[in-house]
Amino acid sequence: MNLKEEIIKLKEELDVTLVAHFYQRDEVFELADITGDSLELAKKAKLTDSKFIVFCGVGFMGESVKVLDPNKRVLMPKIACCAMARMIDEGYYEQNLKQINDAGIPNENILPITYINSSARVKARVGEMGGMVCTSSNAYKIIEKGLKSGKKIFFVPDRCLGQNFAKSLNLKSAVVGDGTDLKEADIICYNGFCSVHQQFTVEDIEFYRNKYPDILIAVHPECDPSICDEADFVGSTSQLIKYIKELPEDQKIAVGTEFNMVNRLREKNTYILSSTKPECPTMNETTLEDVYNTLKSIKDDNISKENEIFIDEETVKYARVALERMFEV
Ligand code: 13P
Ligand code: SF4
Repeated sequence: MNLKEEIIKLKEELDVTLVAHFYQRDEVFELADITGDSLELAKKAKLTDSKFIVFCGVGFMGESVKVLDPNKRVLMPKIACCAMARMIDEGYYEQNLKQINDAGIPNENILPITYINSSARVKARVGEMGGMVCTSSNAYKIIEKGLKSGKKIFFVPDRCLGQNFAKSLNLKSAVVGDGTDLKEADIICYNGFCSVHQQFTVEDIEFYRNKYPDILIAVHPECDPSICDEADFVGSTSQLIKYIKELPEDQKIAVGTEFNMVNRLREKNTYILSSTKPECPTMNETTLEDVYNTLKSIKDDNISKENEIFIDEETVKYARVALERMFEV
């Protein structure tokens, strides 16, 4: 039997659900029981009654499942950490908060919102302060709801997501440390970003529009505001897929997000909006062999601590509050 057949057989034998994000390698993605964007994966994985969740994605995604259902055993064939999530920890969070306080904005006037691409510890801190989580598919709604509190939003860690949604809501944004008066801003952003989505440029858009005047441009909101402003459509991974699949067969489209996902849509006249190959290094770390080894370790009752997600009770408590506030919206 080859590795793929072994994995299918192990999945049938075990009380396990295999989950994969759209950015996973094709050979891993095609074996998954559940696929989706970050929001869908968190919701769907929570709803399964399998004892084991084998999560092929990046660390914050597996953590979200564990926070939402601590009774599940969440294993990650590779605990690969999203580079953007790694740009913030509690220390940096507090440092930024202090800079905002020093600018004359006390904590009682601040509502923190964290993009789901952050650690459980950061989510817990946000939850403790009365804030909530958002994803790329619901950020608009969550920010709108947050603003109703009358407070300024402290948005972490993705500067681009914060700036893009501020623009679409006609709000003023600022980045901590960029020299602008934070008091003037409705949304104050932490200076984090996704290095994969930073690869798309306005020149890439010009290139495709010069080559094919009728081409559409669709991008993920982690792209820089200069890119999102020019695009015909901005959405989460699931929203991008839905948009592309509903286009007429002959409509050309260039897409600004991770390579593996766009490559799967190629037969639909779909181009990658970059002259480079925008691969997410950490999403690409998980191999079929890793998946097989993780499933085998469940079967042999020999699970490696390195592959399992453990989160202390206090963190789970407050991170869950922040995630559940999002689900309420
Ligand atoms: P989605 O929630 O849109 O799947 O995005 C996750 C991500 O990490 C994009 O880089
Ligand atoms: Fe993180 Fe960027 Fe990779 Fe998404 S594409 S998982 S934001 S590093």
